[in-house]
Amino acid sequence: MTTVHHITHPLIQHKLTLMRQKDRSTSGFRRLLGEISMLMAYEVTREMPTQLIDIETPLEPMKSPVIDGKKTVFVSIMRAGDGFLDGMLSIVPGARVGHVGLYRDPETLKAVEYYFKMPQGMNERDAIVLDPMLATGNSAIAAVTRLKATNPKSIRFVCLLAAPEGLAKFVAAHPDVPVYTAAIDRGLNDHGYIVPGLGDAGDRIFGTK
Ligand code: URA
Repeated sequence: MTTVHHITHPLIQHKLTLMRQKDRSTSGFRRLLGEISMLMAYEVTREMPTQLIDIETPLEPMKSPVIDGKKTVFVSIMRAGDGFLDGMLSIVPGARVGHVGLYRDPETLKAVEYYFKMPQGMNERDAIVLDPMLATGNSAIAAVTRLKATNPKSIRFVCLLAAPEGLAKFVAAHPDVPVYTAAIDRGLNDHGYIVPGLGDAGDRIFGTK
């Protein structure tokens, strides 16, 4: 059964409000997304395994926990997922990065794959899939289905905004994948955009409109 983590931390909610505003500059939008990514990285890595290593403080030896960051792979669903990467990598700098390229067929709104590249040894890695917008759910479902074929140890899905219909579809398709979202909005418009939403995340991150 999928767990949906609705992250209601005031700092994340405040920054998300600023991002939603239509007059927010590209640089401001990108900076806020970077900050939210760091805060969401903190939530999504909460269950990350640690192991004890021997260290010496200035006073005495001790065993102390560390994570193995290299075991994490952030999987960006291009291109908007790339906007999450800098923030996530600043918290887990040793993580590997995979990319999934999908475009939305404008007629059917279905996801069509054009790129897929993951690091070696996926069966030893915990995958964290990144896409700011869980809208129809089609891209997220297709990306996770494809990712499962590489047999990662675990998969989590992180977005900024989810539409209820996309979220329900994702949960039905991948009940074993926890979802982390900062907001669940009202719904989708006729073009498959989340409303009230924040517009086209890719265009707002990269200033392409
Ligand atoms: N992709 C976006 O960038 N925005 C939406 O609202 C939906 C999908």
